Amino acid sequence: MKITEQIKQPIAYEMELFEQKFRLSMASKVALLNRITHYVVNRKGKQMRPMFVFLVAKMLNNGRVSERTYRGASVIELIHTATLVHDDVVDDSDRRRGFFSINALWKNKIAVLIGDYLLSKGLLLSIDNNDFDLLKIISVAVREMSEGELLQIEKTRQLDITEEVYYHIIRQKTATLIAACCSLGAASVKPNTPQVETMRKFGELIGMAFQIKDDLFDYGGEKIGKPTGIDIKEQKMTLPLIHVLNICNKKDKAWLINSVKNYNKDKKRVKQVITFVKENGGLEYAIKKMKSFQEEALLLLDSYPDSPYKASLKLMVEYVIDRKK
Ligand code: IPE
Ligand code: IPE
Ligand code: MG
Ligand code: MG
Repeated sequence: MKITEQIKQPIAYEMELFEQKFRLSMASKVALLNRITHYVVNRKGKQMRPMFVFLVAKMLNNGRVSERTYRGASVIELIHTATLVHDDVVDDSDRRRGFFSINALWKNKIAVLIGDYLLSKGLLLSIDNNDFDLLKIISVAVREMSEGELLQIEKTRQLDITEEVYYHIIRQKTATLIAACCSLGAASVKPNTPQVETMRKFGELIGMAFQIKDDLFDYGGEKIGKPTGIDIKEQKMTLPLIHVLNICNKKDKAWLINSVKNYNKDKKRVKQVITFVKENGGLEYAIKKMKSFQEEALLLLDSYPDSPYKASLKLMVEYVIDRKK
């Protein structure tokens, strides 16, 4: 059995119901909007975020979820989708989930508005049901994600990013949303308990590993349903490159910085940079760091009694690192 099927087994029922609810949550009376949101839901991603929500809720509540859990999962996936639509505008990326991105098909103007629409639909789903505690968790994540993407742009312009700043960026732009999944899963069934914070931390650590993996994909050149090799083109410095900049000599450092600054659209030069990073242990270093976040996350699960949900969460932790897309 594939690892994803194994993970989903104890939440198969919830995930199926979730899909129906998620589809409905996007509906609009505007024809153009409906056409585009159909396009979006029909190209679903891995749905890791709702999986985290349901697994955490079921682990903490003897296998039971509530309507709040479903709504929370939908809100998070709506917001995740909104940020991907916006992110592809920001990163000028033309592919997503194996198909054209919204900005590639309908241009930036429409993509920005679609992202806003999905975001507002998500927030309203919480508000209309008085899920204010969940809304708080989600709104914090939304703010952090915007800050993270902006900090990334700022650092891109300065080209002086340190490892610490890199962690800061990925914590904000990616880890906070996965942290929100896990704390929301907990809050949906066990509000105002210390579990909410433990699960937030768990999600944050996984989220860190998750984004390092995503950044490693960019060096890989494998088919993952979105472009690879575009981070350097967009002058985005990620952990493999940051590490190599830290350990190489002055001359190489100047060459690397000059490449990213002035030759980022030169395919041959970008390839040379990628090769240099690979030959100097950049990928190994990033893998090492990714694994240490993963191990820290696993430790947090130790205190919970064994259950199929906990087993699936452990597999999720594996999957974050071993996934092929
Ligand atoms: C992509 O997230 C954006 C990042 C935070 C790296 P996913 O890899 O979970 O995207 P989908 O939903 O499966 O397409
Ligand atoms: C993901 O960053 C962060 C968010 C979507 C907020 P990336 O720009 O690396 O994500 P991909 O690679 O486009 O999915
Ligand atoms: Mg991107
Ligand atoms: Mg990426």
